[in-house]
Parts: sequence; C-alpha cells; structure tokens
Amino acid sequence: MSESKEIYFPNREFAKQARIKNMCEYDELMSWAKEDYEGFWAHWADEKIDWFEPYTKVLDESDAPFYRWFTGGKLNVSYQCIDRHLETRKNKAAIIFEGDRGDKQIVTYQQLHKNVNRFANLLKNRFGVKKGDRVVLYMPMIPEAAYAMLACARIGAIHSVVFGGFSAEALRDRIIDAEAKVVITADGAFRKDKPYMLKPVVDTALEEGCDCVEKVLVVQRNNEDVVWIEGRDYSYNELIEAESDVCDPEPMDSEDPLFLLYTSGSTGKPKGVQHSQAGYILWAQMTMEWVFDVKENDTYWCTADIGWITGHTYIVYGPLAMGATTVMFEGVPTYPDAGRAWKMVQEYGINQFYTAPTAIRVLHKMGENEPEKYDLSSLKVLGTVGEPIDPPAWKWYYEKIGGGRCAIVDTWWQTETGGHMISPLPGATPIKPACATFPLPGIMAEVIERDGTPAEPGEQGLLCITKPWPSMIRTIWGDPERFEKSYFGDAKKDGKPVYFSGDGAIVDEDGYITITGRVDDVINVSGHRMGTAEIEAAIKKHPHVAEVAVVGKPDEIKGESIFAYIVLKNADDTFGEEAELAKEINQVIAKEIGNIAKCDTIKVVPGLPKTRSGKVMRRILRAIAKGEEIKQDISTLEDPGIVAKIQTCVIG
Ligand code: WT7
Repeated sequence: MSESKEIYFPNREFAKQARIKNMCEYDELMSWAKEDYEGFWAHWADEKIDWFEPYTKVLDESDAPFYRWFTGGKLNVSYQCIDRHLETRKNKAAIIFEGDRGDKQIVTYQQLHKNVNRFANLLKNRFGVKKGDRVVLYMPMIPEAAYAMLACARIGAIHSVVFGGFSAEALRDRIIDAEAKVVITADGAFRKDKPYMLKPVVDTALEEGCDCVEKVLVVQRNNEDVVWIEGRDYSYNELIEAESDVCDPEPMDSEDPLFLLYTSGSTGKPKGVQHSQAGYILWAQMTMEWVFDVKENDTYWCTADIGWITGHTYIVYGPLAMGATTVMFEGVPTYPDAGRAWKMVQEYGINQFYTAPTAIRVLHKMGENEPEKYDLSSLKVLGTVGEPIDPPAWKWYYEKIGGGRCAIVDTWWQTETGGHMISPLPGATPIKPACATFPLPGIMAEVIERDGTPAEPGEQGLLCITKPWPSMIRTIWGDPERFEKSYFGDAKKDGKPVYFSGDGAIVDEDGYITITGRVDDVINVSGHRMGTAEIEAAIKKHPHVAEVAVVGKPDEIKGESIFAYIVLKNADDTFGEEAELAKEINQVIAKEIGNIAKCDTIKVVPGLPKTRSGKVMRRILRAIAKGEEIKQDISTLEDPGIVAKIQTCVIG
C-alpha cells in the first residue's frame, strides 16, 4: 500500500481555531482518560449535559457487560437538544430542509420547540403514549421525522425508526419485536421528482400479528391518496394545530432507553440495538464538536437517512444537542444531476459535509469535474462513514470537493457504538488517505487477538473496544443473552470479556488503524449493513430453493455486491432460464427484506462446499465469486470435487 505512506497535515489556519489543535492536545486528552477514566467522563458530562438532577455514579460495572453510566442522574434529551438553546439561539436555524423538488423550509429553534411540543402532546394526550412505550417511525426525510423522534424523547417514549427502504414484512417483524403501540408514517414522499409511497407498506405490515399497534399517525407529504382505516389512522396535519405547544419534558433516568434501532447480525433475526439517554447524547454532542468542529455560525450537512444510526446521531441528536444548524435533504445527490449536492453546498454555504464512500464514488464517476461549476469554498471539514473508502475516491474528495484545504474525517463506528469511535481530528491528525487513524480521546479501541495480545503491526486483528464507553449499546431489546454473546463472547483482555465490533483492522508501524472490514457473516453494500443469514432466510422462502449461501463480492462502486449460490430442490428443475429464477428470487427478497437486499448475482450450483460437520465454507465461496484461484486446503470438505463444479457454474 504505497498510498498509505503519504501524509496530509491539517490546514494550519483551520487548526488554529479548532477545538483540538494538535496531536499534543490529543495525547493529553488520551492520557487523562487513561489515567482517570471516570474523572475524564465526569468532566465532560458535567460540562455538556444540562442535568435536571445530578448523577451519583459515573460508571457502574457491577453487572458487566451491562454497563451503566451516570446513574442517578436525570435529564431529558429533547430539552438538551432544544429548550436549553432558546435563550441564545431562538431564531437560529435548527433544521434547513430541502425537498427532492427543491422546496425549502427553515425551522428555527423556537419553531422546533413548538413543533416538538405539539407533537409530544399529540402522542401523549391523544394517543395515550406513556414513558417506556415503543413508537415505530417509518418516515421519509422530512422535518416531521425529526419532530417525531424528539417528541418521543420529550415524553420518554422509545422510538424505533425503520428505514423507508425496508419492506412490509421487515417492518412488521420490527413492530412485533418492539411491541410498538403507535406507528408514525407519511403518505409517502418524493424521489427523483416522482411520488413514492410509505403508508400502503404500513397497511400491509399491520395486516398480521401487530395487535400491539393501536394507532397510526400519517403525515401528509406527497398528497397521494391513501387507504384510511377508521379508528386506527389519524392525520397529523389535521390534529396537530389543536395541540398546545407547551409540553413539559419528562425527567428521564440516565439509563432509560432512548431508542431502539434494528440492525443486522450474523444470525437471521435483526437485533434491536438499545441506546441510553445520557451516555448517548453526551457522546453525540462531543463527537460533533471534536470530529466536525462545528462552530456557532456553521451550517452542517449529513446526507444519511434517519433510518440509520448516522441519521440519528449526526442529523438529529448530535447537531441539535450542540445547537448547530443541520441540513436535511429528502432527495438523492444524483438528481436532477450529479451537481445537486454541490449546488446545495454553494447555496447554503455548507461548512461540514458528511457522506458515504459509495456516494462519493458515484458522484466522482458521474462527473469528475462537475464540482468545479460550484463555489465550494465554504467547506471546512469533509466526512465519510459506513464503509472503507478507497484511495482514488479519497483523493477526488480531497482535491475536487475539499480543494486540498479540508481535512477528511474517515469516521469508523457502528450502530452499536452510538457515535464515532476512530477518526481523524480535523485540526490535529496527520491523515493517511483511506485510514480511520486513531481512536477518539476516551475511546480505548485496540486491535488484538482473541486472548487480548496486541496484533503485530501490519497484521490483521480483531477491532475491539476494551473499556466501556458512554454511548455504547446497552442491550439487544428483549434478548440480553444475545447481546452478551454477540459482542462480549469473542475476545478477552486481562481475562475480562471486551467488546468486539465484528470488524478486522490493521495497525501500522505508526499506530494508524486501517479498517479491513467485517470478519463475521455480515456484508456491507453501499454502506448498508446486511446479514447474509437474513438474506439466506428470505431466499429459502422460494419454493424451489433447497439450500443457499450468500457472500459479499468486492464492487467498484458499492464496496460489496451480494452474490448468492443456490441449490435447487429438484436438480432437474432448470426453471427455464437462470435469469427467470434470479428475478423471482429477488422478488422474494424485495418482499421479505426490501430492495436494498436484492442480489446482484445469483448462481445455481449442484451443492455447497461443506465440511464433514456440515458447515458451509464461505471463504471458498467468496474466493470463487471474486474469480480467484482456490489456494486454501479443501481436503476437509465432505466432497472436495464440489469446488470445481461450482467454479464451472459461476464461470459458465
Ligand atoms: C459497520 C457498521 C457507522 C454508521 C454507518 C454504518 C463499517 C463503518 C467505517 C469506516 C470502514 C466502516 C464497519 C462497521 N464501517 N464506518 N469509516 N471505514 N468501515 O453503521 O450499519 O452499524 O455498520 O460499517 O464494517 O462494523 P452500521
């Protein structure tokens, strides 16, 4: 990797005014955390959070790995994000919204306060939503989605946002698992100038097994006709005006759940990742300040969807907790052309821009010189998240978007970590392209072997966080054993189980950490995390499929594409064309999970490479998908001859 030798130093002018100005300051913070871990976190919790009642204990490890932070404290996250800013920022833009079709809306902190209070009253008084109740959101990217999240936080309800690209079946599973009382949705929204629908998906989801759901609240966005079920469905737009804009924030315990967010793991069922109040909001705010270094008059834009953790922490909670202006965009950056995002940067004077490597690769491919048409001089910090970025995409981002002036913060983190874990600091860290660099101050990220010994420089090891941190996952909703097993069952340090991320990483001779990707059965397509077991379970619903194995195949744009090997029940069942079968299988996936999980390649094979104990050897399937020669030992396979047969099917 010759590229990784290149080092990009922070922009000096920028560094002078940054919150963390150089590596000495970084080292000091890190040493402080190492020497006095609880003192370090207590300092920031005292400085950053507006407590209703002070906490009595910083970190409670008595029930490890169910760690508890700032116990005894009381706060309200919507208060932290809105009310406390009213004195100094009431007419500052909290949210700048741009619709797919170019419609615009600015929501000030004062307006946000009123809207969230009304929303909270609607949920509480009209719908009887109480503290601890679960509310599922199936929403487009509109300000009402943020109001809904904050309204839940205000009354102590636990929200669970389900990404709008998930199918009715996937939505249903999540509603049932969370036993949600209310679903909030919209008629639909716009994408590429055309309306698309969400409410009908909710209707289908609720057809079976969702007796827990009492009410559905529908926000009007695209004004398309929707079916209305009397006594269950309510119009937000009709009800909201009548609600009072005063709703006292519920005092919440630090450790009360703030939200659930379902994500994929290595087994079939998605996991409801549970986050806390105090620890989560503290780190959301601190990382906004340290990693993006957002200043009072800055305008910050993260292009994620609120259906993912990035949208939670870095569109809604983090920016609002620090009193920033956050941009929310309904559309896609490629419509009407590859200049849309750059046009928005120019128009709003965006100072920090945060997106996924896939988006960068797509925009690069569509318009190498497109950015030159726009004035991007407002940009100060660029961010990437969700998947490894490759050096060519990194360079284009650095040069063409950042004008060689902006730091690129390659932020490594996960749904489970709540906020950034490993990332450059824009005013301090000398950056190696496509490298997440160092753990943030206070985060004990280490690349180790299972027994806790550090991986040798240059060798891949397990990326672990060896001390609990405030914004960490608290449990998997309804399944504490799975929580323990999934995250604390693989690696130990000093005999104590530590958090294992599921990612591999390499530390170089200078201590820089490069993420190499998942080492479990999870794949990453366009920065979206997908469990192969989940996709396999969906494919198995096709009546002709006997066995299936899904693997990721490296893809130039998407990072990974989805590759499925299928064994048919009846070997003679050629099913006409393979293409026909592939189409049907993708329809099943679209129905069970959503379009995002459709396979790019589907190959019918006579059998899968299994060990004598029946375990499918995915390493071999990954190699075949890549078109690699099989160098690994296949003698342990039940039928070593199957490998050549599979290869013939894939090539043929
Ligand atoms: C997985 C987490 C974190 C928000 C979006 C995805 C991969 C994340 C990076 C990065 C390389 C990355 C990891 C991780 N990932 N950031 N900067 N470089 N890989 O959240 O759906 O929970 O997925 O995304 O594999 O485990 P998520």
